[in-house]
Amino acid sequence: MEIPGYREEPFEWYRKMRSENPVYREDNNVYIFKYRDVTAVLDDYRTFSSQFRDLMAPEMRRQLDELSSPSILILDPPKHTKLRNLVSRAFTPMKIASYEPEIRKITNALLDVVDGRSTFDIVKALTYPLPVLVISKILGVPDRDMEKFKEWSDNLVRVLGFGVDMDTEREMAQYFSGLIDERKHSLSDDLISLLIRAEVDGEHLTRQEIIGFSILLLAAGNETTTNLLSNAIVTFSEHPGSFERLREERSLIPTAIEEVLRYRSPVQSTRRLVKREGRIGDMKVEPGDFIFVYLQSANRDEDVFPNSEEFIIDRKENRHVAFGEGIHFCLGAPLARLEARVAMEELTKRYGDIRAVHVSPEDRVDSFIMYGYRRLEVQAS
Ligand code: HEM
Repeated sequence: MEIPGYREEPFEWYRKMRSENPVYREDNNVYIFKYRDVTAVLDDYRTFSSQFRDLMAPEMRRQLDELSSPSILILDPPKHTKLRNLVSRAFTPMKIASYEPEIRKITNALLDVVDGRSTFDIVKALTYPLPVLVISKILGVPDRDMEKFKEWSDNLVRVLGFGVDMDTEREMAQYFSGLIDERKHSLSDDLISLLIRAEVDGEHLTRQEIIGFSILLLAAGNETTTNLLSNAIVTFSEHPGSFERLREERSLIPTAIEEVLRYRSPVQSTRRLVKREGRIGDMKVEPGDFIFVYLQSANRDEDVFPNSEEFIIDRKENRHVAFGEGIHFCLGAPLARLEARVAMEELTKRYGDIRAVHVSPEDRVDSFIMYGYRRLEVQAS
């Protein structure tokens, strides 16, 4: 669909669609914009499937399945339920909380590099490397492979939802397969070891399932968290006084991060595939229809959020859908929240103010799904 002005700012287009065409069909594509429809679709996995590999040409599907099993993101129950239960073991609140000291250490090591400089690119210095270093540490991957990881992650995100980068999948599958072999010989307390050990009702994860999940963590966890942090800096800069307020009242940081997630969502949209007849509002849908689910538009829905187009740093009720909704609700949400909180805490300890000096749509990531910045020059004082 032609999206006027989308690359500049999508928010005006969402607002217009919510008011004029909240459920909009173009051939087999159905676009949805209201909070109530977005949550209804995401809550009904029986009608709205996530199994996108089912659409692939059989030969490509076969090749891909040999490398890695479909990840939980693109599976429906009952397979989704079984796998999610297994991998959830590695993402318990206690497990995530135990990463805090390491995340703080990584954040400070990154900030030390730009210490004393009054201007720098905060994406390059902090928001881009932080999530890759954290996930590498959690998975048990050596730091020296970080650049390779980031490249893989960028490649995966580029094709997210639209196709498959076979070369990247192959390289990553080989890499993780080697790592699994190493760990099988000497289990440790990293995530790969945890996944090898994980068991529910006597069921273990297969090698292909562990590889599929590790690839998903890179694809789903890195750019999203980078974007959340850069969106936070841009949003605070647009609202002078925000940074100072957070410095004086650090307990407000988690609330402010939730509002950034709502106001400038790192993942703008997701998709579903209709597998049985159903309805969205008054619109009939049938097998073969694609649903484009605009999370960002739902997050700005005036029927749900008072003054929805305003950034309110201490917003009280905030049931945003930036992490999705229903059975696929983001498994990494506690980790993303933790990384964002620690990063903001350390920034507010070091600086009196941080302000984006130049914010341009040109510097945004080139994607219709993700919202964030590839580079962001800041002035730090
Ligand atoms: C799923 C957003 C960070 C792992 C999702 C979904 C969204 C999302 C919207 C649901 C997609 C759908 O229903 O189609 C975000 C945002 C993040 C973030 C905005 C950062 C601010 C992370 C991190 C990790 C992660 C750090 C892990 C390291 C996952 C996984 C799923 C998922 C495994 C699939 C869950 C399932 O299908 O059951 N995320 N994510 N995410 N996310 Fe995140």
